[in-house]
Amino acid sequence: MITPKLVRLNKLLAERGIASRRGADKLIEEGQVVVNGKKVYELGIKVNPNIDKISVDGKPLKTKMENIYIMFNKPKNVITSMNDPLGRMTVADFMGEIPGRVYPIGRLDWDSEGLLILTNDGDYAQKVMHPKKEVTKTYHVKLEGQPQPYQIKKLLTGVSIPGGRVKAKHVEKLKMAKTKTQKTSDKNDWYKIIITEGKNHQVREMFKKIGFDVIKLHRVAIGKLRIGQLERGEMVFLNEAAADRVFIPDLPDEAIGKRDYRPKSTKKPVDEVSRKKLNKKLNE
Ligand code: URA
Repeated sequence: MITPKLVRLNKLLAERGIASRRGADKLIEEGQVVVNGKKVYELGIKVNPNIDKISVDGKPLKTKMENIYIMFNKPKNVITSMNDPLGRMTVADFMGEIPGRVYPIGRLDWDSEGLLILTNDGDYAQKVMHPKKEVTKTYHVKLEGQPQPYQIKKLLTGVSIPGGRVKAKHVEKLKMAKTKTQKTSDKNDWYKIIITEGKNHQVREMFKKIGFDVIKLHRVAIGKLRIGQLERGEMVFLNEAAADRVFIPDLPDEAIGKRDYRPKSTKKPVDEVSRKKLNKKLNE
């Protein structure tokens, strides 16, 4: 006998590109999901994708499709959402023709710029967002003012912000080159900050906590997936290997702590006397 392969309904809807798992739960709660002719409201419900007839919002669930991963450079004044009831510009306006329904992983504020991943792969999205994965997110920020080293240290030891206590993995002052669009001045420092948590407005709140407003915020990397030369408003498709780079932490050695980074050649060599003693002991 073949045992039926049951999966949670929200997981299945996420896999088929309908919404994130949380988004799928919302659709279930709203009564938009029908299984074998009946509306379901139970969040943990399991279904058999091969047998059960499922529809969302009146449309039958499509068969499994290819996973899509997109790296997008979000410009500021764009909402991290696929639609906006108020008709403001969203990331969907930049996506063009895509062979599937994708949604953004996490969020960048309306006035933040930079790397945003969009996907139809619910498991991948879940993994990127999971706190245990400690995915590193790297930001460049322009501040209203110039913090003192003791203030920056607070970000590394931990600060309380709305949403909980958080601490940066790494903070570093940047020397920004003058360009036509980015003018440097003595009054505004640029910093690089790396965090692994994902609280609302986390970076802005952290700097606010030490007394500084963030005037510009660019996300330049998620893990070792870096924005590179991708222009604002542009997107590229990623293969799975590239998409998985988000799980490689992007931290300088000193931020990793504990590990011994001495190159092998500088480790203390075993001298001849000790070697003989050791061999003798081993042969006893
Ligand atoms: N932290 C913020 O404060 N804003 C963002 O857009 C992303 C991280």
